Amino acid sequence: MCGIVGYVGQHQALPILIKGLKRLEYRGYDSAGIAIQNGRGLQYAKSRGKISALETSINNQKLVGTTGIAHTRWATHGEPTTVNAHPHLDCNHTIALVHNGIIENYRALRSELTAKGHHFVSETDTEILAHLVEEFHGNGTDLCEAVRLALSQVKGTYGIVVASAKEPGTLVAARQGSPLVVGLGKNEFFLASDCAPIVPHTKEVTYLDDGEIVKITEEKITYKTIDDRVIDKAVEKIGFDLDAIEKDGYDHYMLKEIMEQPQTIRDSMRGRLLLEEGTARLGGLAHDLDSLLYARRILITACGTSWHAALIGEYMLEEFVKIPVEVEYASEFRYRDPILDTDSVVIAISQSGETADTLAAVREAKQKRSKVFGICNVVGSTIARETDAGVYLHAGPEIGVASTKAFTSQVTVLALITLLLGRMRSISNARGRRIAQELEELPERVAEALESADQVKAIAEKYHNCRNFLYLGRGYNFPVALEGALKLKEISYIHAEGYPAAEMKHGPIALIDENMPVVVIATQDSTYDKIISNIEEVRARNGRIIAIATKGDKEISKHAQHVIYVPQTLEMLMPVVATIPLQLLAYYIATFRGCDVDQPRNLAKSVTVE
Ligand code: AGP
Repeated sequence: MCGIVGYVGQHQALPILIKGLKRLEYRGYDSAGIAIQNGRGLQYAKSRGKISALETSINNQKLVGTTGIAHTRWATHGEPTTVNAHPHLDCNHTIALVHNGIIENYRALRSELTAKGHHFVSETDTEILAHLVEEFHGNGTDLCEAVRLALSQVKGTYGIVVASAKEPGTLVAARQGSPLVVGLGKNEFFLASDCAPIVPHTKEVTYLDDGEIVKITEEKITYKTIDDRVIDKAVEKIGFDLDAIEKDGYDHYMLKEIMEQPQTIRDSMRGRLLLEEGTARLGGLAHDLDSLLYARRILITACGTSWHAALIGEYMLEEFVKIPVEVEYASEFRYRDPILDTDSVVIAISQSGETADTLAAVREAKQKRSKVFGICNVVGSTIARETDAGVYLHAGPEIGVASTKAFTSQVTVLALITLLLGRMRSISNARGRRIAQELEELPERVAEALESADQVKAIAEKYHNCRNFLYLGRGYNFPVALEGALKLKEISYIHAEGYPAAEMKHGPIALIDENMPVVVIATQDSTYDKIISNIEEVRARNGRIIAIATKGDKEISKHAQHVIYVPQTLEMLMPVVATIPLQLLAYYIATFRGCDVDQPRNLAKSVTVE
C-alpha cells in the first residue's frame, strides 16, 4: 500500500511529483524516491523516512525534466532503508520502476536473473521487475512491450509505473490488484494510486482494471490488456475538489475529520431519507433490492474499523429486518471456503474500496455466485466497481490513517439500509418515521457530542501516560468499545482492548487495578442496569472509570471517576454519538504523547496487500 505518481507533460516534473507524493503519504511513509528523465538519461534520488527527507536530499541536485515517476513506501519486503526505497533500477540504470503490491515469485525470478548476470542491490521483491524489463527492453522491443513480456512472468499484485532512458517522454504503467488512476490533462498526463495527486490538475480520469497496461507519451495514450489487445477506457470525473483534501486550519486531518462529522453524516443521508414515508431511498440498491429483501442470510465482510461498523449493521439488520446476519473478517472469509449460495447475499464494507482482503472476499463471494453489495467511500474504487450494487458514503476524502468520519457514515448508511428493508418487512410506518426523524437529527446530536472536546482533552492529559486501557460496552455499544480501543491503539501505541462488558468477568478483570483506565460506554438503553453492575465490578478492583453516559443521567456520576455526557438517540443509532468522545480521547492522548496522529507508525490508509 505504497503511493505512486507519474507525470508526462510540458512542465517540470519535479514539483508536480513531490506535491503529488505528499498527497499520497497516508498510503505509506517508510521511504520515498523519484526518477526524472532529462532526455540524456535518468536521474534519481531516494531516501529513508518521510517525503520531507527526500526533499532535503535532492535540494542540491538539479533534477530537470518533464517526465518522471515517484514513490512513497510501506515496506513489505526489505526494511525501510534508502537502498530498498523505490524507484528500483536495472543493471545499467536505463530502467526506473516504482511498484505498489507484492511479487510472490520474486525469489525464483531473482535467482534466474542472477544466473543470467544481473546484479541486485536491494532486498525488495520489486527490484526483479526492473531487471526483468531490462531482459526484454532493447533490440527493437519498446518499453511497453518489454513491460508486457516481463509481467507475463510475474505472480502477485502490482501497480507499476516504468520509465526508460531510451524512450524520453514515455511512461508505461500496469495494474494487477493495486489501484492506478490516469489523469487526462491538457497536453499532460498524470498517473497515481488514487485521485488526490490528480485533482489539483484535472478531474478527467480513467481507472485501470486488473490485467491492463497503459503507454503514455506527450502526444497520446494507449490502453492494452496484458495479453496485447488494444482497449478503450471510459473517462470519468473526480467527485471532490481540492479543498476537500486540505487541513482547513486544523493541526491534523484526523481532528478535521472528527469535527466535520455533523456535515459528513448529513451528506451520507442527502436525498436518501424520506421522513413522511418513514423510510429511505438508496438508488444504488434499487435494481437488486429483492435479493437483499428475500435473502436467507446476509454476510457482512470487512477489515479493521469497517468490521466494527459491520458488527453494528448485524445488530440493526437482525433487530429490524429479521434476516440472520454473520460478520466475517475478510482475511479469514476468503480462505475458509465459506458456505455461500444464491440465497445468501454478501455486503462488503470498505472506506478505501481497495483493501486487498476485502476485495478478495468480494471476488470469492462472486465466485460462489452470491450477490455482492458494497458500502464504500472512495468513488471509482475497485470494490465499488466490482460489486453488483452498493451505496457510497459521500463522506469526502478521508486522509487521516485512523478512520473516523467514514465509520460514523458507515453506521449511518447501514441504518438507512435497515430502515429501507425494515419498512418493506416488519417496521410500521410510525416506527419508521421515528427512526427517520432520529436519523434526521443525528448530525445535531453529533455536533452536541463534539462539545465535550475540552473535557475529553483534560481526561486525556490525566491518563496519557498509562500503558493499558480497557473499553467495555454492551449490545450496540460493544462494537463501539472495540472501535474506541482500536483508535487508541493505532495512533497512541497504547495497548487497549475492547470487550463485551459481561465478558470481562471471564478473564480481563484480572488486568484491572488502580493503573488501568476503563472506558465504559454506559448510555441509557436496554442494557443500562447491567452495565452499571459491570462498572461496580471494575470499581471494586480500583479501576479508573471513564463513563460515556446519556445527558441527564444523574445516577452514573456516583459510579464513575469521569463522566462524558452525550445526547440521547435511538439505541441503534447510539454508536454514532457514543463514538465521538472515544475518537477525541484517542486523538488528545496521542497528541499529548507527541505521536504522529495522521501517519501513525507501521500503518497505512488503505491496505492493498495481503
Ligand atoms: C482504521 O482506523 C484503520 N485505518 C484500518 O483498520 C481500516 O479500517 C482497515 O484497514 C479497513 O480499511 P477500509 O475500510 O478502507 O477497507
